[in-house]
Amino acid sequence: MAHGRGPDGRSSYALLRDAVAGRRRVLDVGCGDGLLLELLAAGPGRQVAGVDLSAAELALARRRPGLDTAPLHTGSADQLPFREGEFDGVVSHMALMLMDGPERVAAEIGRVLAPGGTLAAVLGGGPGEGEAYAAFLRLLRPVLDAAPPGRRLPRLGDRRLRTREGFDAVFGPAGFAPVSWERVPLDLTAPPETVWRTVGCLYDLALLDLATVADLRDRFTAATAPAALPDGRIPCGMTVYVAVARRTG
Ligand SMILES: C[S@@+](CC[C@H](N)C(=O)[O-])C[C@H]1O[C@@H](n2cnc3c(N)ncnc32)[C@H](O)[C@@H]1O
Repeated sequence: MAHGRGPDGRSSYALLRDAVAGRRRVLDVGCGDGLLLELLAAGPGRQVAGVDLSAAELALARRRPGLDTAPLHTGSADQLPFREGEFDGVVSHMALMLMDGPERVAAEIGRVLAPGGTLAAVLGGGPGEGEAYAAFLRLLRPVLDAAPPGRRLPRLGDRRLRTREGFDAVFGPAGFAPVSWERVPLDLTAPPETVWRTVGCLYDLALLDLATVADLRDRFTAATAPAALPDGRIPCGMTVYVAVARRTG
């Protein structure tokens, strides 16, 4: 999603970087390969740390400039290996809504965040402007319906974290003030290969066999080609929510 741009020209990663501007000790929960941590680490005097379930993603993160000595822990967000109040900022990009047991995750984020600290998260909101992502989901549905049970990933996470009310219901009891909630349309228009990598990295494809994924990719490319812009790029959009909440004292 790094090439995606909101209406003001910023990427969804840059929106989170800016939401914790001035915060010196920042934890990224579900940091993946460290793209956001790299942006954050460029801030003067800032200390960053990350947690992710995937050791492979963290190995990629460690290769990024500024992250070679950062504490990056393999583990689950519902058991954070940090002290109480150790951070004054916590960020999470496209990860919180995928996590099971969000109340435990919220309690842990509330524990490691100092009073007055900021939690800023980007949460997935589904297809937005542009045909490609919606077209992908239309093609994917029958493929998943036809897949044997062992090749269908169960629905990940908790849908409450895709709404303002649900977010407050989960994070309020963990010591957070009512969230500031913004719907941001991201423009992910790009060359066909990039658009496929954007929509095709969804977890829904993770258990499908390679031939099925290759066939889906061919049909997706054919279905979206007629919409190509004169420069060959394929229009694609996605909606995200930007949630910012303060840890009360
Ligand atoms: C869609 S990826 C986003 C990665 C990264 N934040 C980004 O946007 O580039 C979601 C990430 O959340 C991680 N994740 C999912 N559940 C988790 C949990 N309970 N604890 C820690 N990480 C988790 C996954 O391993 C994955 O790297």
